[in-house]
Amino acid sequence: MHGLIFQKLQDFVIDISSGETWLKMKKEAGLEDVIFSPTRKYPDEYIEKFVALAQDHFGLERDDVLEAFGKHMGPKLIQLFNFTIVPGWTALEIIENTEEYIHKTLKTADPNVDTPKLVVTRISGNELKLEYNSPRKMIALGIGIVKAIGEAFGEQLTITREDTDEGTTLVIKKQLGHAWTARPQSTM
Ligand code: HEM
Repeated sequence: MHGLIFQKLQDFVIDISSGETWLKMKKEAGLEDVIFSPTRKYPDEYIEKFVALAQDHFGLERDDVLEAFGKHMGPKLIQLFNFTIVPGWTALEIIENTEEYIHKTLKTADPNVDTPKLVVTRISGNELKLEYNSPRKMIALGIGIVKAIGEAFGEQLTITREDTDEGTTLVIKKQLGHAWTARPQSTM
């Protein structure tokens, strides 16, 4: 997993708890000497250790940890990768183009980056189908990111999830009829 994700996980733990908790979790994971760099890749087992520890520390299920983390990290990811986002895109358009523009940019910059396979199909003007497939089984992280994108762009999104043997399908629907703006609000 990309070092950027570990840096954002550190920010998340510090924000919801404290720096002491993060150092404690690193120690409990046996990773106290590791300094996470955003230009390096680390074993997936590290993220699994941290997620399991966060479950214990905060009394949450795995998916709840991943979703809360994704929602916390989402605005920072949007800010960091703003250069890949076409001005004027709505939240649904960003999600629709994540694979082609955002995850692909990451893979082009570093072929070792191993983002999940997202296949997104437009169902209607206000609805997308997102098919997720990854051995990491972290769709809840993606759900958190999707929710963060909706909030950042002032769009109310409802998400329905269906898990199958092949992966997970999300149906993401924009609720119409409210007076929110389509411009991004503060991205931090
Ligand atoms: C601003 C938008 C986004 C950015 C900058 C971004 C960036 C990243 C990065 C850096 C990783 C780590 C990859 C690695 O370790 O090799 C990642 C993983 C992931 N991304 Fe994205 N992402 C974005 C949007 C999304 C969206 C909309 C979804 C919706 C499903 C999503 C789902 C995931 C998931 C589930 C993972 C975890 C790894 C896995 O399941 O295999 N991302 N993303």
